[in-house]
Amino acid sequence: GTGKFFVGGNWKCNGTTDSVSRLVADLNVAKLENDVDVVVAPPYIYLDKVRQSLTNRIEISAQNSWVGKGGAFTGEISAEQLIDIGCKWVILGHSERRHIIGEDNQFIGKKAAYALSQNLKVIACIGEKLEERETGKTFDVCFQQMKAFADSISDWTNVVIAYEPVWAIGTGKVATPQQAQEVHAAVRDWLKNNVSAEVASSTRIIYGGSVNGSNCSELAEEEDIDGFLVGGASLKGPEFATIVNSVT
Ligand code: G3H
Repeated sequence: GTGKFFVGGNWKCNGTTDSVSRLVADLNVAKLENDVDVVVAPPYIYLDKVRQSLTNRIEISAQNSWVGKGGAFTGEISAEQLIDIGCKWVILGHSERRHIIGEDNQFIGKKAAYALSQNLKVIACIGEKLEERETGKTFDVCFQQMKAFADSISDWTNVVIAYEPVWAIGTGKVATPQQAQEVHAAVRDWLKNNVSAEVASSTRIIYGGSVNGSNCSELAEEEDIDGFLVGGASLKGPEFATIVNSVT
C-alpha cells in the first residue's frame, strides 16, 4: 500500500440526535490501530456536535461543500464554514451527488480546487456505473473523472482518491479484490502518466462499495488498496472499528 492506511465512514443522510450520540459513544471506546487515518462524515446538522463529542483520534469530514466563497447560496455550506467549526475533510464527487443530484465533472473539480484553497482536505470520489462496466468503459469513465480533478488540482498532498464502483454502493455486491485492484492500479498509472510519478506513488487510493467487517481484510491485502470509504457499515461502531483494523 501507499502511505498511511485511510478509513472513512460516510454516514450519508442517516441518523437522529439519539443514534448519532450512540454511534459517537461506540466510536469513543473502540480500539483503533494506531497506524490508520480515521475520518467520519456526519450529515451537516450533526457535524459540530460530533466534532465536539468525538475523540480527537477521529477527524471529521463533510459530505459536500459549496463550489466557492460563501454568500447568497441558499441551502449551501462553504469550505470556510467547515474549517471554522474544525472540520478537516470533505467528500467530493460522491456517486450519489453525481447521479442523483446531477453534479458534473467540471463542477466537482472546481469544488475540489476551492476546498483545497481553504485548507480543507478532499476525498475525491470516482467510479463507473454497471452499464459502463458491462460495456468496457470502466477505465474511460474513471480517467475522465480523474482528469476533471487533475485539471483543477495542483497540489495533491491533501487529496485521497476513493474508487467507488456505483454498482457496489449500498448493494451488498462488493467488488472482488481483483476487480478493485485492477482499477486502483490503472488509476495510479493514470496519475503517473498525467500528473507525476511522485503523486502516483504518494496518493492514497481507497475503495468504497459494500465494504463490511467480513470482506475488508481480503481487500486490504491488495497492493494498491490504501484504505476504504465505508457507508452502511460505518453506522455500526464495532464493525467500523473492525474495518479500520483491517490494515495489513
Ligand atoms: O461513501 C461510501 C460509499 O458510497 C459506500 O457505501 O458501504 O453503503 O456501499 P456502502
